[in-house]
Amino acid sequence: MKAISQHSLMGFTLAATAFCVATACADTRREYHFFDDMHYSPAGDTAKQDKYTGKQYDMLEPENTVTYGGTPAYPYKKDADVEQATRELKAPANFDIKRGSERFHIYCAPCHGAQGHADGPVAKKFAGVRKLVNERADTFPMAKIYHIATVGQGAMQGYAPQIQEQDRWNIAAYIKNELQKKK
Ligand code: HEC
Repeated sequence: MKAISQHSLMGFTLAATAFCVATACADTRREYHFFDDMHYSPAGDTAKQDKYTGKQYDMLEPENTVTYGGTPAYPYKKDADVEQATRELKAPANFDIKRGSERFHIYCAPCHGAQGHADGPVAKKFAGVRKLVNERADTFPMAKIYHIATVGQGAMQGYAPQIQEQDRWNIAAYIKNELQKKK
């Protein structure tokens, strides 16, 4: 009698486990996570809002992507459109310079250096990083710095996939209004 009940208990446990495994595998599009694994990573539609944060996805679309139902793709190309972008881009009404400084030190200083002298740790290993503080860079309008931070320039890649739009402006404002004024 005792042996049978142990058996059926084991059978039930096995069936329950099998059921859980099967349903967990089938439900690959679930909206909640038991824990943070890579079972299902939500894909970001570049033209839409992220439903978790309510914010716009801010990544650049792959070339030739057609945008629908959202804000248009960033229309200016790397290098070729830099002058047009500098003329046409409108800076936001407000900047958070403190946040710009913080983001600059995370994302730009590794190459450009804490003071913009092109002496960050990466610049010591790879030639070609330019100074952000000199006669040349000092003449760059904020929109030009924003454009370069967005799509890159020459050997430098763009940071749109990693830094939100407002923060790229915050960084540009920090470079213009603090870094280049310090010397
Ligand atoms: C991985 C290294 C690296 C990082 C990180 C980096 N840059 Fe650059 N940056 C470069 C290189 C290399 C160049 C020179 C590109 C060229 O003209 O070929 C450059 C050029 C520039 C220029 C143009 C300077 C000039 O005189 O033409 C600006 C402005 C600039 N970067 C801004 C930024 C900003 C803002 C960030 C942070 C969001 C950033 N960079 C992050 C490597 C980097």
